[in-house]
Amino acid sequence: MSEQLGTLEELPQDYREQMAAAGVAPLWPMMRNVLPHDAPRPVTRAGHWSFPALRPLLLRAGELTPVEKAERRVLVLSDPGRGTGAMQATATIYLGLQLLLPGESAPAHRHTPSAVRIVVEGLGGYTVVDGERLPMEPGDLVLTPGGEWHDHGHDGDEPVIWLDALDLPLFVQLEGSYAIEGELQAQRNRPDASQVEYSAAGLAPSRRPGRGARRYPMMRYPWAATETALRQMAAYGEGIAELDYINPETGEDVLTALGFTAMMLTAGQVETPPLRSCSSAFHVIAGSGRSEIDGQVIEWGPKDTFTAPVFARIRHEAESEAFMVRIHDRPLQEKLGYYEERAR
Ligand SMILES: [Fe+2]
Repeated sequence: MSEQLGTLEELPQDYREQMAAAGVAPLWPMMRNVLPHDAPRPVTRAGHWSFPALRPLLLRAGELTPVEKAERRVLVLSDPGRGTGAMQATATIYLGLQLLLPGESAPAHRHTPSAVRIVVEGLGGYTVVDGERLPMEPGDLVLTPGGEWHDHGHDGDEPVIWLDALDLPLFVQLEGSYAIEGELQAQRNRPDASQVEYSAAGLAPSRRPGRGARRYPMMRYPWAATETALRQMAAYGEGIAELDYINPETGEDVLTALGFTAMMLTAGQVETPPLRSCSSAFHVIAGSGRSEIDGQVIEWGPKDTFTAPVFARIRHEAESEAFMVRIHDRPLQEKLGYYEERAR
């Protein structure tokens, strides 16, 4: 094991000034900041956003700012470790709560980061991705993968609210984040792929030479199907019922960097997952309970969102039957070759 490392103050002033003038700095005083022993030291802190607290703020944004002046009318859920205004909820996950009012539309654009929408409330909203119209019903998970044209519309008569989850922080760090604007898309007049090509688990369109599947063959995961599957898992599986959202053609995670896992807890069920190297955000679809995250107690209810930093010590306890979607960056960490789970 190495000794206590030298500090900047130990070095002569003239040497420090010469280094600064030459545009260099000694590594050793800063080394532990970037390479701590045994585990990362996350800046991220657990956060909790109560939907009953956010909902009126978001609806007020609807009165104050027309969608034309906002492009996307969103309240950003900022990581408490980075402070309000931080465009991220964890190191890799951006979260925002978006409002679309009846008759409004959000203009078409495409951008390098990928997004997922989890519908929180309201009927009649839809997202169009690459010409495919994806209905948005509460609990649905809708993909708008990086590089794909997308716009949002609303045919209903009540506010529609959804949670946006993006890998935006990663793209900002890479200096690779940008958007291109376009015209509202013509919509193909047919149901989305979850109701056509991939309407049953384990079945995919027959493969023929020259007819490859789209890179993102299914972009809407209806909540009704997810809940049915979770209930079957809870009834007949062992331990916690958890299902990953996957690309039905490849079996891989739905997006490159972010992964999504639906969870069901029965009333009174306690779940103590291993310490994971990925960060997580939990969005409550239904139910209530409490979670302890690194000693911080979070009392959550329906439509709330809360986060956990990397290697967090987590204990969930459901008060009532509860459904959540966990957003995480395991896919990215697996691709980078360092995803890890440690025993508690
Ligand atoms: Fe977008």
